[in-house]
Amino acid sequence: MLRGKFLTIEGTEGVGKSTNLAFVRDWLQAKGIDVVVTREPGGTPLAEEIRVLLLAKREESVDETAELLLVFAARAQHIAQVIKPALARGAWVLSDRFTDATYAYQGGGRGLSKETITQLEALVQGDLRPDLTLILDIDVELGLNRARQRGELDRFESETLSFFERVRGAYRARVEDAPNRYAVVDAGQPLVQVQADIDLVLSRLLTY
Ligand code: TMP
Repeated sequence: MLRGKFLTIEGTEGVGKSTNLAFVRDWLQAKGIDVVVTREPGGTPLAEEIRVLLLAKREESVDETAELLLVFAARAQHIAQVIKPALARGAWVLSDRFTDATYAYQGGGRGLSKETITQLEALVQGDLRPDLTLILDIDVELGLNRARQRGELDRFESETLSFFERVRGAYRARVEDAPNRYAVVDAGQPLVQVQADIDLVLSRLLTY
């Protein structure tokens, strides 16, 4: 039986995920909650190796289905080694991205069908779904400009503006389909306001 809560954070590039992930972690820890912080693709040595394969820029063009299967291979390992054991012992899991990113990037961005992703989700996750997903939403161009100041771009960060517009649109569509599982925060606001909004979301989560 899984007892802890499973939270994920999502967004397009340059949305401030790292800063706000640390804010959520600190907030939960201050309430005495045992939190395991992790990320996707990654979270275990094998899954981190798959991450390197996925993010590397290469001459060879990467087939969309190959990319999708690598994402889910890493996820299967991450769930088995980290997520399920943590939830089972009552810890909360806070993951920097999870399957919503697959619907957004491989679905929205690359154009793979939602049905294909849903099939793999069922195979790899069974009935494991996040209890709450925080979506940090920002104007795509603004986010990309921020991300591009960080240094060399990986294979995803090098994508076009229209790719990220589709990614953002796919996140929004996820929220429309299941509004109760998501909290969308406007990440274009000043950081104090972003974090005040996150504080409200977490306070509500603890009340229910
Ligand atoms: P990061 O930039 O948040 O560290 O994530 C690495 C990249 O991986 C990011 O550009 C989004 C991409 N990604 C997918 O394309 N599909 C997925 O399922 C996940 C988890 C990440």
